[in-house]
This record gives sequence, structure tokens and C-alpha cells, in this order.
Amino acid sequence: MSGNPFNPSTTMNPDNFVGRSKEIDLYLRCLEESAVCNSSHLILMGEKGIGKSSLLRKFESVTDHSKHLVVRRDMDPSIDSLESLVNFLIRIIQDSVIQLSSGFRGIQDKIQALVRDNKIEITVLGVGAGLGSQRITVLQETLFKVLSGVYERVKSVFSSICIFLDEADYIHEINGAWSFLRSVFSRLTDQKANYLLVVAGYPGLKNKIQQVYPSMLRFLRPINITNLSLMETRKVLVKPFEKNGRYIIADVINDIYSRTKGHPFFVQMFGHELFSLDEPIIETPVYRSALSTIFERLESQIFGSYFDSLNSKEREIVNAFSKRPEHDYNISEICEITGIERERLYGHLSDMVAKHCLKRVKIGVYALFHPLFSEYIKKQET
Ligand SMILES: Nc1ncnc2c1ncn2[C@@H]1O[C@H](COP(=O)(O)OP(=O)(O)OP(=O)(O)O)[C@@H](O)[C@H]1O
Ligand SMILES: [Mg+2]
Repeated sequence: MSGNPFNPSTTMNPDNFVGRSKEIDLYLRCLEESAVCNSSHLILMGEKGIGKSSLLRKFESVTDHSKHLVVRRDMDPSIDSLESLVNFLIRIIQDSVIQLSSGFRGIQDKIQALVRDNKIEITVLGVGAGLGSQRITVLQETLFKVLSGVYERVKSVFSSICIFLDEADYIHEINGAWSFLRSVFSRLTDQKANYLLVVAGYPGLKNKIQQVYPSMLRFLRPINITNLSLMETRKVLVKPFEKNGRYIIADVINDIYSRTKGHPFFVQMFGHELFSLDEPIIETPVYRSALSTIFERLESQIFGSYFDSLNSKEREIVNAFSKRPEHDYNISEICEITGIERERLYGHLSDMVAKHCLKRVKIGVYALFHPLFSEYIKKQET
């Protein structure tokens, strides 16, 4: 028997990717625009496990690689200064272009020389770095020179270069990074160096950017990623079973949808456990008997560590939320049911969103990150 096709801990293979057609269309439109230098960059946002990384992979797979060069990477906490950001961007561009242009030795050599010459400035800067605008100007100049130089050298082959940066909340941790990126990428557009920037992060990212550099949001077009529909959830579940000559009945699918709400990570968790049962048909009795194992898995893999990350006051808050798991709570209601003063509540709520235990539905309105979390919370109380 082949391995389990459901894998909650890895991004979805583009061939088995389901839905998101509007998002894909928007991406393809931006890609077309990027090739004629009318760039509108993108920011994908969605809660943990909603499918941001899988969507970036899908974007990459629907790209016409004979026209566009795609560079897709995760940001990480080691990229914590403008210097390291510039170095990171230069390195990933250099590596991708060199890899892809292996048939064009002339291009490879020219790009290596271009990067080498420009990187000297960053190294010198790293040693004697003073703060202030001169340092930023040199860094901007360096990144601009390398990116425009790379484009210049590949433009006979590619009409645009797309940079996908996943885990983009790390960009926000770097002081001044958004305005820095905006300056460089706007200048590239002005100089007809066609780049498309796509960043992906958590839902709070837009608000965080709004607070420090609102004009960045005119430059990044937002795409909010939400749960899958019932039809899409059905597709995610049915296909892998059918491919293996097995079947999952509609009632079971409907129940999974009503529990998971179409959240891709949870759908994968259910699929994974049900597939591992090795039953030819997943009918209601089989499904019901598997539910306790599915919940144990969810508890050990997610809910336990989420709950453990909360302090005692925050636990009081999720306890209160777990009484009505699907309800959206406004601040006054939360104050009333928890007895916590409004001023202190704000800090707790934003910490709990950062820990992925709550989601912010809209300004001043919060809910559990997922209703399934409530069962675990209730158990901790007893
Ligand atoms: N469109 C989709 N169709 C089917 N499965 C999907 C889809 N999107 C995501 N998944 C599945 O959901 C799970 C979470 O996806 P992914 O890792 O892409 O989410 P994420 O938003 O990047 O998560 P994180 O916030 O942890 O980085 C994975 O198991 C993935 O296979
Ligand atoms: Mg991800």
C-alpha cells in the first residue's frame, strides 16, 4: 500500500491543491501586469494552517516558467536587520538565477561578478556600520543595483522576476524594512526592471504595517485566505481515497466539514487519521469510532501546546470563550464575562492572537482560533 496521501504537516502538492481560483486569477493578472512594468505587489494573509505556503507553491506552479522567473523562500528570525535582509535577497536571487540560467554561461558569470562587486559595500558597512540615513541609502543603492542589474541580464529570457517571501511577519520585525522595500521596488518599477513581490504572513500583519507605514498598503494588494467551502472540502477528502480505490461517504464528509469549518489543516488531520484506518469504505460507524483518536491527535499535536502557551489570565479568557465556541465576542462582552478591566484586556487579547489561540474577527471582536479548540479547553477545567 502506498503512503498516507494526507499530510497535515507539509504544504500541499500543487497537483492536489483545491480551490482558491479567485486568488490564482488575481496572481496571474498581477503577473501579466508585472511583465509590462505596471507592477502591483501582493500580500497574502491568513491564520495558521489556512494554506498560505501551499498557495505560494500553487502560484509558482501556475506560472509560465518560460516567461517568468520565480524565487520562493521562507523568511526566518536570523534575518533581523536591513543588512541581513539585503544579503538574503541578493543571495536568493543570485542562487535562483544561476541555477535557472545554467544554459547561459555568460549570464551566470555576469551575475556573479555583479553580486561580488556590490556585496563588498555591505561587508564594509557591516564592519563600520553607523546608524542613520547614509547607511540606509547605501543598502538601498546596493539592493537596487543588484536587482536591476540581474533583471537587465536576464530580460532577454524572462519578462519578469517574481520574489515570494513566506513567513513575512519576520520582515516586520526589522526596523524600517517596509519603507526600505517599497523604495527599492518602486524604483525598480520606475526603471522598468520588472519584479513582482509576493509576501505571505498572518492576518495581523496588515494592521501591524498600517501602524508603522500605512502607505505600504497602497503598494501591496491584500489577499485574505479563508476556509475552504463544503465542495472544496469534499474534493480534498474524496480524491485521495478514490485514487486508492477507497471511498468516503457523503455524511462523513458533511460532518467533517461542520466540525472543521473547512480549515485545511484540520481537514488534513481528519483525512490522515481516517485514511490510516485501512477501511475500504469510511462509513458513519467507522468514522464515529475513529473520532476519539482524531481528537487525541489534535490535542497532542496542537491544542496542548497552544493551551500551555497561555498564562492564567489568558486561560480564564479562553475558558469563557469555550462556552460558546462559535461566538464572536466584542470587548464589552469579554470584560463582562471575564471580569478583566478593559485596559488590561487589550494586551492579553493581542498576545493571544500572536500565540494563535484567538483570532481577531474585526476591530474589537475576537473568537477562538477554531471551535474545535473548545473541547480541549473544557477538559482542562474539570
Ligand atoms: N488549497 C488546499 N487544498 C488542499 N489542502 C490544503 C490547501 N491548502 C492547504 N492545505 C493543507 O493544509 C495544511 C496547511 O497548509 P499550509 O502549510 O500551506 O498552511 P500555512 O498557512 O502556510 O500554515 P502556517 O501558518 O503554519 O505556515 C497542509 O497540510 C496543506 O496540505
Ligand atoms: Mg506556511
